[in-house]
Amino acid sequence: MHDEDRFATLGRLEDLPQDYRDELTRQNLVPLWPNLRAVLPPGKPVPKTRPTHWSYETLRPLLFKAGELTPIEKAERRVLVLANPGHGLENMQASPAMYLGMQLLLPGEWAPAHRHMPNAVRMVVEGEGAWTTVNGEKCPMSRGDLILTPTGLWHEHGHDGNTPVVWLDVLDLPLVYYMEASYHVDGERQVVKPGRGDRAYARGGIVPTKLFQRKDSTYPMLRYPWVEARAALEGLAVDQPALEAVQVTYVNPESGEDAQNILGYYALMLRPRQTLRLPVRSPAIVFHLIEGGIELGVEDRRFVLAEADTCCAPGYTAVTLTNRSANAPAFLFIADETPLHRKLGVFESRG
Ligand SMILES: [Fe+2]
Repeated sequence: MHDEDRFATLGRLEDLPQDYRDELTRQNLVPLWPNLRAVLPPGKPVPKTRPTHWSYETLRPLLFKAGELTPIEKAERRVLVLANPGHGLENMQASPAMYLGMQLLLPGEWAPAHRHMPNAVRMVVEGEGAWTTVNGEKCPMSRGDLILTPTGLWHEHGHDGNTPVVWLDVLDLPLVYYMEASYHVDGERQVVKPGRGDRAYARGGIVPTKLFQRKDSTYPMLRYPWVEARAALEGLAVDQPALEAVQVTYVNPESGEDAQNILGYYALMLRPRQTLRLPVRSPAIVFHLIEGGIELGVEDRRFVLAEADTCCAPGYTAVTLTNRSANAPAFLFIADETPLHRKLGVFESRG
């Protein structure tokens, strides 16, 4: 066989006689060769995920309008989903494994207790006075705080403040739904227990110990205050050469593993005018700008991100981040599919 024969175009479905195709369909059979290149493309995947930018300034009035149109009792969770058109808006996916939603809670409202199989995190976008109770631990919510509601844990949201609160939800819902493992259970209002993980693990390298016994809970820390993450980044920036990336990972402080099993969470600081070229890696990635103004390049696309804007990029693409300010740092929250890719053995970095 000559090499050129190997790379010749494969046979198409239309090349087969209609009666043969009909008989295959009747028997629930499909010929592989017309679809082979689509499922195994040469060199790198062909992503459905499109580089997409959601401006907070644009979506905010629509979200607040939902607050007028739909009472919380009719919504349970009042959310506008940030859907990637490449996956079809109705599928409510930002990427293969990530779901993103902007959630609005008005003063005095209560989003009732439930638990579900997908893991979720909340990144607080604006407003003060809201809280999320997770398995009895009441977590206050302030701008930039990351709050985990991991798989199977009871959670509910309430609001004692007097201005609307908005947060970004990040869930592994598309993956868990695809696995036909997604469901929820309703619950009663939780009894708040004493003790807060963000206080118990507030100091790096020091963990609570009860008479020589370390905690063995899978999710010892549920709230990661932004004030701590920001201080960690600023501290790192002082020690690191100006061209290096300043990044932290949200981890389980007992094990050092990623904070959740499927998605990874990070915070990144860009110095004034700094440009960072991210390595080309297999997982899709989501960026949410906490502070500052940046330009984000995904292959040949350019997006200008203002505060509270969100953007996603498919895996296997070149991403460049540039801080547009000459005198202020920029701070980003990042979510990606790295833990999933690593656990499945399909993680790849092409540098
Ligand atoms: Fe939930």
